[in-house]
Amino acid sequence: MNEPVIRQPSMDEVVITVGEREFRIAAECPHRKGRLVHAHVNPRTLRITCPLHKSVFDLATGCRVAGPVSGDLPVTEGQAQRGETRR
Ligand code: FES
Repeated sequence: MNEPVIRQPSMDEVVITVGEREFRIAAECPHRKGRLVHAHVNPRTLRITCPLHKSVFDLATGCRVAGPVSGDLPVTEGQAQRGETRR
């Protein structure tokens, strides 16, 4: 199982790479703007846990699955290729 790589290429965006999959998400949690560059990503379930109040979002859909009520997480998925994204 590949360990997730989390990076923040800009103030607004966080990029998470898990194996061949790459997810681009907002840098701030939709609940109260927790910094998702410090989130935990489970590579098996593809769920991300906000470091602030522990909301959990499904990376494939952006849907909140646990934690404080908030909107969903905007997600764009691409395919990781040698550090690049192919769309
Ligand atoms: S800021 Fe992310 S759960 Fe509250």
